[in-house]
Amino acid sequence: MKKIGVAILGLGVVGSGTYKILTEHREFYKRTQDIDISVESVLELRKERALALGIAPCAIAESMAEICSNPEIDIVVEVMGGVEPAKSFVLSALRAGKSVVTSNKELFCKYSHELEKAAKKNNCGLYYEASCVGGVPVIRSLLDNLQGNKILSIMGIINGTTNFILTRMTEKGASYREVLKEAQLLGYAEADSTADVEGYDAAYKLSILSSLAFHTKIPYTEIYREGISKVNQTDISYAHKLGYTIKLLAIGKCGGNGIEVRVHPSLIKSEHPLASVKDSYNAVFVTGDSVQDVMLYGRGAGALPTGSAIVGDIIYCATHPVARYSTFKNTEKADAATKFVTNFESAYYLRLSASDKAGVLSKITSILSKNGISVDQVIQDKERVDGKVPIILVTHVTKENNVKKAVADINAVDNVASVDSIIRVVS
Ligand code: HSE
Repeated sequence: MKKIGVAILGLGVVGSGTYKILTEHREFYKRTQDIDISVESVLELRKERALALGIAPCAIAESMAEICSNPEIDIVVEVMGGVEPAKSFVLSALRAGKSVVTSNKELFCKYSHELEKAAKKNNCGLYYEASCVGGVPVIRSLLDNLQGNKILSIMGIINGTTNFILTRMTEKGASYREVLKEAQLLGYAEADSTADVEGYDAAYKLSILSSLAFHTKIPYTEIYREGISKVNQTDISYAHKLGYTIKLLAIGKCGGNGIEVRVHPSLIKSEHPLASVKDSYNAVFVTGDSVQDVMLYGRGAGALPTGSAIVGDIIYCATHPVARYSTFKNTEKADAATKFVTNFESAYYLRLSASDKAGVLSKITSILSKNGISVDQVIQDKERVDGKVPIILVTHVTKENNVKKAVADINAVDNVASVDSIIRVVS
């Protein structure tokens, strides 16, 4: 029976989950995979974490060098998070001829070109299923099962913290601040929640997923990013009246004009499958030219779901002697030939505060029409706020730049109306 030795770098939530799965399923993998996978070593500064899991003191490494020089270790699992020291540790493992399995989306998104180069040079595997959407097998699906397709679009809820916050705001009427606190207490959001709520975490994941989907490097710096910190009850409730739910969506499209990649709050029809993805669940909706629509759904975070993705990679690595790398030239920057679309085509939700007097609505619609924007739905509420009435418009599909220009024109007309909220509508 093939023996595979593993080292785990970091025994936080994901590292501990991975350790538990590997130890509890060891006999099962011997029987089903014909491999004996043993955790030979761990690297964790807080040794009490290792001891609490029942790891023998002699298996707690003192340094990365100790792991690199241990001939019993074939695969290094990096679940520390952050860029450094994770990057140096992963590079030293690859240079020592060890394959690497990582859950680190920030590291992989920013430095996969360097890591992959080192992996290829040393003939090692480099696997990262756990970096995106936790236990949901989206990377392997893109890298293997969906290879027969030209992927046209990928759209998903790929951050659990923001989905939890938006679900609670929608269902309980709670404020953004209140739910953010709850998410932090439940351990979903980080103490510094910026990466989650401002969309960086989703942008890192979209960079990885869209590069795989569209076979070209899409650096996260090319992704338009907007978080959920400005989403409020007023917009959630008007969206509901109009038949929509607000979600933080990550969207990638590959069409004749180029590649479009964006992360932002979106109104999505309440009957769309992604609208029913609630709490900290994640889902990815992929459209391929042959397969058409595929939706993958599940837990995007957590000890055992993310551990499941890591152990899946360990088994894949142990059973595939020829490593699987990117299908595109993995460079730091986007290929010069890749065109990015920034003047998106979308429908828009606009909430305005307007003076309640004759001619105001016609002034607004004439500005919209002058900018090539046609209105699909409109609500004018009776309730006055600071002497103004709210007007809510949903436009037909138009170009982003038309909307920016129209909003500037509306805001420039004194005492008529101001645009308080702009949210893209996904059809
Ligand atoms: N902070 C991430 C989320 C965890 O909320 O989805 C998994 O990447």
